[in-house]
Amino acid sequence: MSFNLSNRAIASLLAGVALVLAAASASAQNAQRGVELAKPCAACHGEDGNSIAPTFPRIAGQHEDYLLHALRAYRDGGRKNAVMRAQIDKLTDQDFRDLAAHYARMKGPLTVVR
Ligand code: HEC
Repeated sequence: MSFNLSNRAIASLLAGVALVLAAASASAQNAQRGVELAKPCAACHGEDGNSIAPTFPRIAGQHEDYLLHALRAYRDGGRKNAVMRAQIDKLTDQDFRDLAAHYARMKGPLTVVR
């Protein structure tokens, strides 16, 4: 059995693998980055994500998918809320993923049942 891959073919194969890896790391969530991004959120949602004011939902311990979905909905208009819209206006989808990962890991009365 002989493989006859040219150097060029190998190079483009490796470039492809590198691209896939780069894309994967860009889309992975980073809860540590979320900690920094969450600082302005604390004003309403509480330092620990458990706001005591009934006007602001508790988000600590909420499902990561739910949080991500909610943030995207404020951005895309599925949810219309001027307050939240203003909060997320300058954030990227990667920021949303990191914030969702961060809040999902925090402790709160909302628990994930597995
Ligand atoms: C000025 C106050 C304020 C700030 C700051 C704020 N929020 Fe909110 N947030 C709200 C209010 C009010 C709601 C409820 C809106 C609604 O009725 O849809 C909300 C809702 C949410 C929800 C949906 C919760 C659910 O259970 O559906 C998420 C997720 C959320 N905020 C995340 C964030 C994040 C992340 C930040 C920081 C980037 C942030 N918020 C900053 C006031 C705020």
